[in-house]
Amino acid sequence: MSWLSGKGDSPAGNTSTDMLRVELPEQLEAVTGQWRQEGLKIALVPTMGNLHEGHLALVEAAQNEADRVVCSLYVNPTQFGEDEDFERYPRTLEADITLLQEAECDVLFTPDSRVVYPNGLDNAVHLVASPDLAASLEGANRPGHFDGVVSVVARLFNMVKPDIAVFGEKDYQQLLVIRRLVEDLGYRIRILPVPTVREPSGLAMSSRNNYLEPLQREAASHLQTVLQETASRVKGGQAEMKKLELEAEIKLEQHGLRVDYFAVRCSEDLAIPQKGDRHLRILAAVWCGNTRLIDNVFVKRVGICKI
Ligand code: PAJ
Repeated sequence: MSWLSGKGDSPAGNTSTDMLRVELPEQLEAVTGQWRQEGLKIALVPTMGNLHEGHLALVEAAQNEADRVVCSLYVNPTQFGEDEDFERYPRTLEADITLLQEAECDVLFTPDSRVVYPNGLDNAVHLVASPDLAASLEGANRPGHFDGVVSVVARLFNMVKPDIAVFGEKDYQQLLVIRRLVEDLGYRIRILPVPTVREPSGLAMSSRNNYLEPLQREAASHLQTVLQETASRVKGGQAEMKKLELEAEIKLEQHGLRVDYFAVRCSEDLAIPQKGDRHLRILAAVWCGNTRLIDNVFVKRVGICKI
């Protein structure tokens, strides 16, 4: 356990801008238990590190809603498929610490795998994400991904015991899956969603953007453009959804992006929209070279509805 702005390593030496880094749940409990006794509200921001402005927007939202903020940083192996980028996922702890200190985060929790999965990955209890939300889209393309996400997030909830947990709309399906986890397992935690933070080009900020070459970045920005174009066509009820989805896929492929899925869904439960459904999300995943990118936009349908 260490204080991270150079005032020694005991709680007595800290200043208001010090951030405490803890690796063990007992250390975390010593701090959060005290906060709870003082009646302070705690927010958790779970991350896998390589922090950018998107993550920092979550920290800021947490600060606005709670008295103390814990950010967790753990690259969770169980949510990566065998052929995915777990090994090469960017790990930038020093830079992350600096960003969190500047953002005045209170505690950085960096558990290792022995803490998160104390019986080893093979003998761990694995949770299964609700299939109605988790089986399609990301789940269909990344089998087991959301099971890994709920398995780690439940453990983080158990260790941190937050009042609030903050998640980005950038991973919209993940947000719904986590909401269900909370509801289904009875966690008394409020899930706070935060809108997607974007680069000036419209590209959603992501740790995986670091993999992109400059030309690929330009191609990747078309994901947002095509989502927006489709959103305005869906809004006016201009054409059948299937047709709009197909046309969007063709446009993306023309920009050199290989499409995993491009889907208009109900925003509440990801069901396929029926005539009366107005609150929709358009969700997409594309490959830009070897980099997989996801994004989504909200759309409220107002025109005459074609399915
Ligand atoms: P990670 O990809 O590090 O993202 C951590 C949180 O930051 C997620 O809630 C994600 O939706 C949010 N986020 C990422 N990019 C964002 C952006 N551009 N704008 C707003 N929010 C953004 O998501 C995970 O980690 C993991 O699955 C995790 C929940 C930590 C479980 O391992």
